[in-house]
Parts: sequence; C-alpha cells; structure tokens
Amino acid sequence: MKLGTRLTLYLSLIIIIVLSGYGYLQIYTRRDILIRKMKVEVRSIGQALKISLEKISLLREMEYVQELIDALGEDEKILGVLVYHKGKNLLFHSRYLSEGVEPFVDMIKKSIEEDQLQEKFGSYKSNPVFLYIFPLKNKKKKSIGGVSIIQNTTFMEEDIKNAKWTIFITVLVLIGGTVFLVLFIVKKWISQPVSALMDGVNQMAKGHLNIRIDLPRGDEVFELGQAFNHMAEDLKEAQEKIIQEADKKLELERSLRRSEKLATIGQLASGLAHEIGTPLNIISGRAELMQRKLENKEEIQKNLDLILLQTGRITKIIQQLLGFIRKKKPEKNLLKISTLLETTLDFIEHQIQRQKVKIVKDIKENLPLVMGDPDQLQQVFLNLILNALQAMPNGGTLRLSASFQWISKEGLGIDQQPYVEVGVEDTGIGMEKETIQNIFNPFFTTKDAGTGLGLIVVQGIIQDHEGWIKVESEIGKGSLFKIYLPAMASTLLEERTEGERKAQGEG
Ligand SMILES: Nc1ncnc2c1ncn2[C@@H]1O[C@H](COP(=O)(O)OP(=O)(O)O)[C@@H](O)[C@H]1O
Ligand SMILES: [Mg+2]
Repeated sequence: MKLGTRLTLYLSLIIIIVLSGYGYLQIYTRRDILIRKMKVEVRSIGQALKISLEKISLLREMEYVQELIDALGEDEKILGVLVYHKGKNLLFHSRYLSEGVEPFVDMIKKSIEEDQLQEKFGSYKSNPVFLYIFPLKNKKKKSIGGVSIIQNTTFMEEDIKNAKWTIFITVLVLIGGTVFLVLFIVKKWISQPVSALMDGVNQMAKGHLNIRIDLPRGDEVFELGQAFNHMAEDLKEAQEKIIQEADKKLELERSLRRSEKLATIGQLASGLAHEIGTPLNIISGRAELMQRKLENKEEIQKNLDLILLQTGRITKIIQQLLGFIRKKKPEKNLLKISTLLETTLDFIEHQIQRQKVKIVKDIKENLPLVMGDPDQLQQVFLNLILNALQAMPNGGTLRLSASFQWISKEGLGIDQQPYVEVGVEDTGIGMEKETIQNIFNPFFTTKDAGTGLGLIVVQGIIQDHEGWIKVESEIGKGSLFKIYLPAMASTLLEERTEGERKAQGEG
C-alpha cells in the first residue's frame, strides 16, 4: 500500500473513532440534561400541589380539588393528576385519566405505606410517561392520602431524537471535513513529494543524471530532495570521470598493441631468417648433388621432389608473413557472422568429409551484425577450423557456435558491451599447458608440416577488430577456441523487427 494512502487511512480511522466517541458522549449528556429538566419541572408542580392540597380538607372541598387537577390537566405536557383519599378510598382524577389507572393507584398506596416520595418511568395507553408520586399529610402530620402526577414524556423523547440527529449530522460533517483535510495535506506534503522523489530515482536508474527534483521548502522531504540533487550531481561527475578513465585506458591499450605488433614483427623477421634458412640449405645442397649426378634420372627426380616441397614450404611461410605484415587496410562492413561461418565451411567441405569429422552447429538466430573485414575474418575461421581438423586425424566432432552477449572487455573494467562470441571446438588431441602458453608465438608448431603462424595471424586480426581470443584445452579430450567480436547492438533490434515483420506478413 502506498505511504500516502496508508497515512490517510490510519489518520481517518483515528478521526472517525475520536469524533464518534465525542458524538456519543454529546448525545448521552444531552439526554441526561433533558430528563433532568423535565424532572425539575414536574417536581416544582408537585411541590406546589402538595402545599395547596395539604392546606385544605379533601373531603370538604372536593369541587376545588377537582378544579385544581383539571386545570393542571390542561397543560399539554401533563397527562393528568390522580389524588387519592385513603380514609374514604376516594379517587380524584383528571378527565383524560378515566380508565386503566389501577396500577398508578397501587403505586400511590405503596408511597403512602412507605411514607416516601417516588419517581418512576412507565407507560399509559402506549404513551411513555414519568410518574411523580408523593403522600399527603394533614396538619398533625398523619398521612391521609397521596398524589400522582403523570407527565407525558413523548415531547422529551422527540427532543432527544432531534438532538441525536443534529449531533449525528454535525459529527458526520466534521468527520468528512477533517478526512478531506487529511487527504489534502497528505497528498500535498507527502504523496506528491514522495512520488516526485520516486520519479527522480527511476529516471536516475535509467541513466538520466541531469534530473533535478524541485520540492516546496521547509521540511525533511525538501532536504531529501536536495540530497538527491547533490547525489545526482556527484554521480554525474563520477560517471564523467569513469568515461574519461576508460578512454584513457583504451588509448593506452591501443598504443600498447601497436608496440606489441612492432615487437612481433621483429620476432617474425628473425624467425624468418632461421625458418627459411633450413629449406634453402636443403635446396642448394640437393641442386649441387644433382649437378654431380646428372646421369642418374631417379636421383634427380627424388631431389626435384624435395626441392619442390621445400620451396612450397618457403612460399607458404612468406605468404602468411606477408598476410600479417603487409596488412592491407581492413575494409570493414556490417557482416553476418552466421553467413561467414557457412561459406568458410563450404571451402573445406571435402577435407571434412575425407577426415570423417562430424559437424555440429549451434548458431543462435537473430545475432546482431559485426563490423569487420570479411576476408580477414574468414581467414580467422579457416585457421581455427583447419587446426581443429588437424587435431582430429582419426575423426571426431567439430562444434561451431555463435551467440550474443553483454560482457566487459577482457582485462578492462569498463562497463559491459555487446559482443558476438564464436566458438570452434574439437574432440581432438588437445594441448599440454606449456603448448597453450606458446601457441600464439610465431613459428611455434607441433606439426611436421606446420608453419606456426596460423594462430598469430588469427590473434592479429581479432585485435584489429577490437576483440580478443580465449583458449581452453585438455589433453586427449579436445580444445575450444572462443573469439569475441564487438557487435552492433542497434542492428539486433532492426533484425528482430525485420523478423517480426516477416512473421506478420506470413501470418
Ligand atoms: N585445435 C587444436 N588442437 C590441438 N592443438 C592445437 C590446436 N590449434 C592449435 N594447436 C597447437 O598450436 C600450434 C600452433 O598452431 P598454428 O599457429 O595454427 O600453427 P600450425 O597449425 O601451423 O602448427 C599447433 O602446432 C598446435 O600444437
Ligand atoms: Mg594452423
């Protein structure tokens, strides 16, 4: 439940309880006051009646007595008066009280017996009444009879009912008013500022650090808003700093890579002298041998084969070296990795079939495009797949995978970026730990006809594409080469919507 709603609810509940209690108390005291007022009226009439009746003889002045009670009966609030003479068992009554008064007479008799004034509530002909009963005495203080004044309380009950309604409506209006006030105050001072803060936080979470919250001054919520604004500013500064540092790191990395490449070229050059020295020695040696044995055709044939083999090897080394050093400027286009992998496979299909290697493809659909040079990337896949095939001379499984990931660039703690991961996995001979440490060194090879240049070429190209390469291998089980290439995440969306459009068109 929202804070504002909860606060309004609890405050309203308290207000309702308090005001209801107040209303109930009001009704109760009002009723009490009205009853007391009525009793005071009846008592004063009773007192006056007592005095005047005790002054005379009831039996001698019967007419006067009757007139007196008739006159009292004229009052609309007084239902009637009963005067009872004990000695003669005589009853005077107002005109209205003609029948059904026996219970009242009994009460008068009881009051005479106990010599005590009595007040009681009762009813007469379904009217609510109040009875005021007192004994009458002669001059010698001997009781001679009693009087009962019967007051109609219908008027009072009506007054009480009216008062109840007035109080009820007043309380209702009060409750409504205060609840409305609470609602207004909670909304203005709590709900609105809190939702403004929430909006700010949400905006900030989405990366809008320019957001500022403007709240009415004067309370803690305003201070909270100020604190939030400060935080947004600090965050923005921190973010800018991080971006700057990341740029610096990237620049550093680039220059490092340039010098790394120069070092590699130096290494390559010295390696080259050594690598082609051996075949050149063999070639010149065999040529000399042939000069001496010009008649022996068989021997010449054998030596020519050897010469061809060795020159072929030199050509291969030179070609790969040139590919690395005289690197033509990469022509980068938006590429579909899946297509590139397929064409590479087409290239070496015959070799795959010959080696009885099974191909498993796990290429995710809707991969984003990659900015790259198609020829160079094809070279990368070709080198990796050829290595995998060479690692499985007795057959096996070659697994090609491609997926999309948000990760941070290896070694750099910058925020995550979109990459396409391409995996080339074989179930071949695998590599020892020391081998893995050397595979990216120029001319490192464990193969008889190897050049040891394939992986260094792969690494160079991947680095030119702002990517990196990872190796996992276990001897006897196989190897997995993973390369990461920056993806154009924006093309992901295009591809998808295109796909959706197609799907809709078909459906
Ligand atoms: N898939 C693989 N399985 C086992 N060893 C591998 C694999 N790929 C590369 N290597 C090792 O790395 C070395 C260097 O590979 P590379 O640079 O392509 O040169 P080359 O293939 O000419 O030997 C290989 O000689 C081999 O020992
Ligand atoms: Mg190779």
